[in-house]
Amino acid sequence: MLAGKRILLIIGGGIAAYKALELIRRLRERGASVSPVLTRAAEEFVTPLSVAALAGANVHRDLFDLTAEAEMGHIQLSRAADLVVVAPATADLMARMAGGLANDLASTLLMATDKRVLIAPAMNVRMWTHPATQRNRAVLEGDGILFVGPNDGDMACGEHGPGRMAEPPEIVAAIEAALGAAAGPLAGRHVLVTSGPTHEPIDPVRYIANRSSGAQGTALAAALRDLGAGVTFVTGPASVPAPQGVTVVRVETAREMLAAVEAALPADAAIFAAAVADWRVANAADRKLKKDGTGTPPALSFAENPDILATISQREAGRPRLVVGFAAETDDVIAHAAAKRARKGCDWIVANDVSPATGIMGGSENAVTLLTAAGAETWPRMAKDRVARRLAERIAEALA
Ligand SMILES: Cc1cc2nc3c(=O)[nH]c(=O)nc-3n(C[C@H](O)[C@H](O)[C@H](O)COP(=O)(O)O)c2cc1C
Repeated sequence: MLAGKRILLIIGGGIAAYKALELIRRLRERGASVSPVLTRAAEEFVTPLSVAALAGANVHRDLFDLTAEAEMGHIQLSRAADLVVVAPATADLMARMAGGLANDLASTLLMATDKRVLIAPAMNVRMWTHPATQRNRAVLEGDGILFVGPNDGDMACGEHGPGRMAEPPEIVAAIEAALGAAAGPLAGRHVLVTSGPTHEPIDPVRYIANRSSGAQGTALAAALRDLGAGVTFVTGPASVPAPQGVTVVRVETAREMLAAVEAALPADAAIFAAAVADWRVANAADRKLKKDGTGTPPALSFAENPDILATISQREAGRPRLVVGFAAETDDVIAHAAAKRARKGCDWIVANDVSPATGIMGGSENAVTLLTAAGAETWPRMAKDRVARRLAERIAEALA
């Protein structure tokens, strides 16, 4: 899959730099060529000689290398790659990227490139969780920088927690995904995905929620991204992290979700995987409700929430070409889902049985039936990311 791909690999100055040597080996095994760049600090951790020998290429180290700079070498170097990878990405290099600095070869290449950039952060757990690093992470994500890791685990410094660089095979997989995205069947398409539960307030501190983890919607957004789609991911407060490399819009209530969905249009396809509350509390209090000493609980009354799937399916102008709903049912799954498809006016319904015995809601597997105009197709039970991949491929075929 990486045959003929050109990777510009920037190695930052952290302990994990030694893993960059294995990464180079694995990339070359898969047919990629690697053009390595070492920061000044990285040379304290790995030698340019080892890097050059493994890469089978010159190591770039200096912004002011006059031979190359006669031809604006740093600009050429940043553009000649198919993908720019930073592994390890130090806290300092992330800060330079987030701040738009160009004060050494690595940061200048990152500013000058017109290619996608994937970074593998690696640092002490306190450095990673520091508010400054988290601010920089958010800025970089907003700029469309792709992330792989960091992972949780033991660190060279003896501490434990998030900050360990992703392992070379994970970085290779992320590189393959990033490059697949540039050329996949959904390249140039915009797909909207909703995910997670909604929270409907009772008062400022309490809310009504549901058991959706957001796992299926998240897997679907990642699968669509991997096929090259530009994904807008509108998510309620999910318990799994949002995927990288997509535009994330965070909402809480059903009404906020509808507004975010409408703001994200136009889209070629819209997939509504969120578990949206049917009702909100009509008499939500603006102050925390208190016990009044009489033993009488507060009386909550409910109002129906907007139906996001029906609203978008029935739009006259700007309806996405393909609208897909999810139907989570606990009984008569296919009959209910078929009725839902007809009632809401969407093109496809992905039906699943979320009765507690299935372990699907909040679990890692799903068993779905896809209902289209052509009929119902029941898929075998499989991991949610496999369901996502299969559905993403069907969406790509439908939009082709
Ligand atoms: C022994 C040692 C280990 C270090 N490990 C890390 C690390 O894992 N992650 C990190 O962000 N910084 C680490 N640093 C600090 C960086 O080397 C330092 O911030 C440097 O300026 C980064 O430069 P660069 O971003 O240009 O590579 C380490 C420093 C030392 C002395």
